[in-house]
Amino acid sequence: MRPDGSTGAVDCAAAYPGLFVTFEGIDGSGKSTQCRLLAEALQARRFEVVLTREPGGSDGAEEIRRLVLEGDPDRWSAETELLLFTAARRDHMERRIIPALAEGQIVICDRFADSTRMYQGLSRGNLRDSVDQLHALMIGQEPDLTVLIDMDPAKGLARAKGRQGSEERFEDFGLNLQQQMRAGFLALAAEFPDRFRVIDGDRPIEVVAEEVLATVSASMPTAPDRSAP
Ligand code: ADP
Ligand code: TYD
Repeated sequence: MRPDGSTGAVDCAAAYPGLFVTFEGIDGSGKSTQCRLLAEALQARRFEVVLTREPGGSDGAEEIRRLVLEGDPDRWSAETELLLFTAARRDHMERRIIPALAEGQIVICDRFADSTRMYQGLSRGNLRDSVDQLHALMIGQEPDLTVLIDMDPAKGLARAKGRQGSEERFEDFGLNLQQQMRAGFLALAAEFPDRFRVIDGDRPIEVVAEEVLATVSASMPTAPDRSAP
């Protein structure tokens, strides 16, 4: 408790004035590319944008990212892994996402809770109920808009494998998991039609980017182009 009696706790579940946009989809579908292009397009229109990612996005959450994405794939049980992803998200919310939304900024996040619903909820048994319960208890906030970049898993995996790096934790599960994840993401889009927009990622980068910008602009409370004097 602080001297003034407050706990300093961040209310993750409250409503804030900013716009919270997340990108979801299988590995290699083009999420990171499209997040960056959307951030650049909105910044060019003079919006204040925070571009971030999960797992990670804050110092503590980036440390947890290393714990969950590197090393022996069997180092955590499914339940422990779910707790680690949720802990990372809570830190990210408290330190980065909520403060930006509270200032009315646009937060663009490369993956969020829907990835947990898919990867931790489906890939190692059925933990979806636990995922949803933990989300309600510790996060309590859904995005205003979720852009699902839909993609043929074989093509997505080929793209993802083209990248070098030590973070191969989930990509290593291979094509079967990617197919399961694609179907699961499409089912989530049907479950939450108000906030999901499905965009075909199997087109040139600029074509996808144009549709993403048009889609996000349509969901913004004010016209996106503030560049006019
Ligand atoms: P994700 O974040 O979904 O894993 P990335 O944005 O990192 O995907 O893209 C994976 C790879 O595919 C990168 O090398 C990127 O340049 C390439 N890529 C992204 N979008 C497209 C696209 N529409 N067409 C062809 N290649 C793409
Ligand atoms: P990311 O860096 O977005 O991978 P990619 O660019 O290949 O799509 O995410 C890393 C991995 O973390 C990805 O395979 C999905 C997984 N992940 C989860 O399992 N649960 C989660 O809650 C999140 C956010 C990601």
